[in-house]
Amino acid sequence: MDTSQDKYLGIRTEGTLEILQKSAHYNRYEATPYAVLDEWFAAEPLRPGDHLVDFGCGKGRVPIYSAYRFGVTATGIDLNGRLLQEAYENLESFRTAHRKSGGQIIFEQTEAEMYAVQPEQNVFYFFNPFSLEIFQSVIFQMLDSLARSPRQADLILYYPTTAYVFFLEEQTPFSRIREIPIPFLSEDNEDERILIYRVG
Ligand SMILES: C[S@@+](CC[C@H](N)C(=O)[O-])C[C@H]1O[C@@H](n2cnc3c(N)ncnc32)[C@H](O)[C@@H]1O
Repeated sequence: MDTSQDKYLGIRTEGTLEILQKSAHYNRYEATPYAVLDEWFAAEPLRPGDHLVDFGCGKGRVPIYSAYRFGVTATGIDLNGRLLQEAYENLESFRTAHRKSGGQIIFEQTEAEMYAVQPEQNVFYFFNPFSLEIFQSVIFQMLDSLARSPRQADLILYYPTTAYVFFLEEQTPFSRIREIPIPFLSEDNEDERILIYRVG
């Protein structure tokens, strides 16, 4: 399924990549399954004018597929240059395969904890990219941006850790608006789910 969807989009996003650098805070690359993205999009479709950010985008599956499905603007950031290089190649081959297709797609090589959230960005996606400490600093920085430019913002978490959930629910104004179980990937695994939080 993932191979054929990649092929249809003209991209290559499968596989894993351990990050052999710097810090145990940074998790390895593995793409969100398309079936999971389809569950999210069925439950909460992106809206015209949304600007999605994928924190730790790897080879770019989430920004490319989101822009393809909804014509929205999508930004992917990742600290790993090798993955980002593949994301750029994927963007080029996607544009060749789907010339008339939709939204703007932007990739940027940076550490998430250094990234300044832009006032037009309002949907933020996380598939276990990094440690709780980094997640906290990203969220606090995001809340600053939301205070400076008030707007509604959604956080989408796939396969969330208990630590992420506890932090969001105890220490931030984000409220959980939806839980989407993904039982078809692993029946007895309760972590196999998407949580959506909203503020504003
Ligand atoms: C589990 S993968 C998720 C890939 C992509 N978001 C998806 O769902 O298809 C986590 C990604 O986060 C990136 N990452 C880890 N720590 C990071 C950091 N501090 N800043 C930016 N990216 C980071 C890794 O390089 C890896 O590509």
